[in-house]
Amino acid sequence: MKLNWSDVTPRVDYLDRRAFMVAGMAAGMAGLAPPAMALTGRPSALSTDEKPNTIAEITNYNNFYEFGTGKEDPARNAGSLTTDPWSVEIGGMVERPGSYSVADLAPENALEERIYRLRCVEAWSMVIPWIGVPLAAVLNKIGVQPGAKFVAFETLMRPEEMPGQQRAILDWPYREGLRIDEAMHPLTILATGLYSDPLPNQNGAPIRLVVPWKYGFKSIKSVVRITLTDQQPSCTWQDMQPQEYGFYANVNPQVDHPRWSQATERRVGSGLFAGRQDTLPFNGYADQVASLYQGMDLAKNY
Ligand code: MTE
Repeated sequence: MKLNWSDVTPRVDYLDRRAFMVAGMAAGMAGLAPPAMALTGRPSALSTDEKPNTIAEITNYNNFYEFGTGKEDPARNAGSLTTDPWSVEIGGMVERPGSYSVADLAPENALEERIYRLRCVEAWSMVIPWIGVPLAAVLNKIGVQPGAKFVAFETLMRPEEMPGQQRAILDWPYREGLRIDEAMHPLTILATGLYSDPLPNQNGAPIRLVVPWKYGFKSIKSVVRITLTDQQPSCTWQDMQPQEYGFYANVNPQVDHPRWSQATERRVGSGLFAGRQDTLPFNGYADQVASLYQGMDLAKNY
């Protein structure tokens, strides 16, 4: 039985949070913005028992190029994003295509806590306590047609609220994709929260993909479109630099990025003198996922 975040959080944090929520409720009654509702997710055996990064670390050191390329740009700029109302268009080779709300896809009674390692292709890492639902549950609800082989994802396109999209830093909108067996794997989730809060905007509110055995760029944020297809989808980073970023992007210490080693990583928040730690094959999830790639040359299919 894994511990829930609340079991390991110092009580002072809790008290602060309670005080914050009470203040929020008072503000709500005074006609101000309603407080964000606390979320809880059922603990999962798929969570790591490594110590999660702090909420401050997870929300102030981000990659979200729609809000700028600096690590602190998303925290600074993402507040402007309107995340409610939100809908996700699900289409292509599915039985029930349509426009789904976040609550349709990730109803509160289905939420799970998943404490996962996140390993960025830039060789930093964190441990993040996500709240979300297995992507498989969503796909099963929508009904996948037998011929579907891949799932394509797209981030919202809204340059007026996403200043990074006013420049051609990437080929917007941000696009990612998974093979259907990767998408259906129990580790793959759509996250709507972290710690016990709804997802902060800089982390991909209101709903983002998390695929913990792949480099972080596969875990696309603020998703508005999910398409089931029989063709391998076009992915933003792969299209931009195909020699550097592959479709699979499985964490692999043996296959270096052309411009740097992937053998080790820096755990954000571990301190200046902590040193680097070894990067693990499939980011430490090899027991669960290596079989998906049996017989494949992982140096070619990077
Ligand atoms: N999704 C979108 N739409 N835009 C981005 O720039 N960056 C990716 C990924 N998802 C990115 C994105 C990268 S490189 C990483 S490492 C993770 O988001 C970072 O997630 P985090 O900021 O929540 O830690």
